[in-house]
Amino acid sequence: MSSDPVRRGRLAGGRPAEVAAFLSSMDADRWIADADIRVDIAHLLMLDQQEIIERDASSAVMAALLGMYEHGVPETVFDDEYEDVHAGIEACLIAASGMDKGGRLHMGRSRNDEVATCIRIRLREELLAHMAGLSSLRAALLEQAERHTETVMPGFTHLQHAQPTTLGHYLLAYEQALSRDFERLWDGYGRVNRSPLGAAAFASTGYPIDREMTAGLLGFPELVLNTMDAVSARDFVIETTAACTILMSTLSRMAEEIVLWSSAFVRFVTLDDAYCSTSSIMPQKKNPDTAEIMRGKSGVVAGSFTAAFTAVKGLPMSYNRDLQDVTPSLWRAVSESGACIGIAAGIISTATFHPDRMREEAGRGFSTATELADVLVREFGLPFRAAHNIIGRAIRSSVIDLAVLEAAAQELSGISLVERGLTGERISDALDVDVSVRMRSAPGGPAPETVAEAIAIQHAALEDDRIWVRSEEGRLQAAEDEMIREARRLVDE
Ligand code: ARG
Repeated sequence: MSSDPVRRGRLAGGRPAEVAAFLSSMDADRWIADADIRVDIAHLLMLDQQEIIERDASSAVMAALLGMYEHGVPETVFDDEYEDVHAGIEACLIAASGMDKGGRLHMGRSRNDEVATCIRIRLREELLAHMAGLSSLRAALLEQAERHTETVMPGFTHLQHAQPTTLGHYLLAYEQALSRDFERLWDGYGRVNRSPLGAAAFASTGYPIDREMTAGLLGFPELVLNTMDAVSARDFVIETTAACTILMSTLSRMAEEIVLWSSAFVRFVTLDDAYCSTSSIMPQKKNPDTAEIMRGKSGVVAGSFTAAFTAVKGLPMSYNRDLQDVTPSLWRAVSESGACIGIAAGIISTATFHPDRMREEAGRGFSTATELADVLVREFGLPFRAAHNIIGRAIRSSVIDLAVLEAAAQELSGISLVERGLTGERISDALDVDVSVRMRSAPGGPAPETVAEAIAIQHAALEDDRIWVRSEEGRLQAAEDEMIREARRLVDE
């Protein structure tokens, strides 16, 4: 007879090991084993309060559950003979308190609502850890930005030198993108944070259960109300893996630039040795491997999203076993993206940027030509398009000086810039990279004081985000502590 408490009634005992392994979710269930104990405790407190279970049974089972809560689930619950951790834990409880008591815990619920609740509980923790990690990464970017408000560098479009900017401005661009990645996780968290418990198989139960009570004990402010939706919904998995994929697109872009910038061609940054590897044959090599792996991981995370989406999209209501295979994609997405967040924070906070090299490149390729066009517009009355054409024509000769500009103005517009008062000195002033950057002080622009103001605003936003994460962690911990106190009271009474 099977020792899996779920199988041994309906199904005949033996099955080939490969079938057991094929059906098993045990590897991924390690993620939710601790959460399952908390779900059991909440469910049992509710059964007890609603007088669905007798006190001697609830107190014996609770004592066994508290043992697992305090000392961790025993390794035996992961044994191959069980199909999943829920069966393993139930078998362990029955072994500890006898069938007559331990066999009563599963009244009014199913593994379907149980597993959905476990996943949401564990995912909440993972999302909060992601948000805390993202906050540290954002702080690292802001700190470097603070050091480099005055560091002039080239900005690129089409990866061609475009206009001068500041390193502070550039770093803030990534911080802003990451603050949206934070926001996406935060927003999704609200939908993860709802309790499916009490939905049972899908049709709820005839026992007089109290769904609000178990939700409250487990720190869920809301229910996933419709019980059919509660067991079958995995949109929160699709949403989380999508948010992680989008986050990885930000990190992967950053990684790509770190690889590029640390190349000898560019040499804008030197990474700390801790984040680099060397070659087994070329002794001189220092390679930005952490950034490369980060760029690569974006594919793994995107794959998790695709796997989850594809598995879910064709499923009829309500629970289907396919859903078991969606969960590992979720854990893969959160663990890989979580690791990348931490590595990125380390790379950024220990990186040494090279302002001298950035300045060297800042003015290359007539990158200040836009500012000169603006000067011709503001001070010499030209329409912008005429100024744009004149300077563009002048640049064909690879120099910009008074003579070349004057010739281009005569040729294209039939006007004399010299007569209008343009001087060689005014031209070289306008082409100065510092002037160009300082002029660009519109909100969100690269001018040093504008960047300094933006840093202050982002610091405040980051602080609010950090406060939210800490308070949510505190709220969850308080709910858990309160539930455990109630569980101990039940045993002690
Ligand atoms: N291990 C299963 C999962 O992860 C638990 C639910 C099993 N439910 C069922 N009816 N077989 O989805």
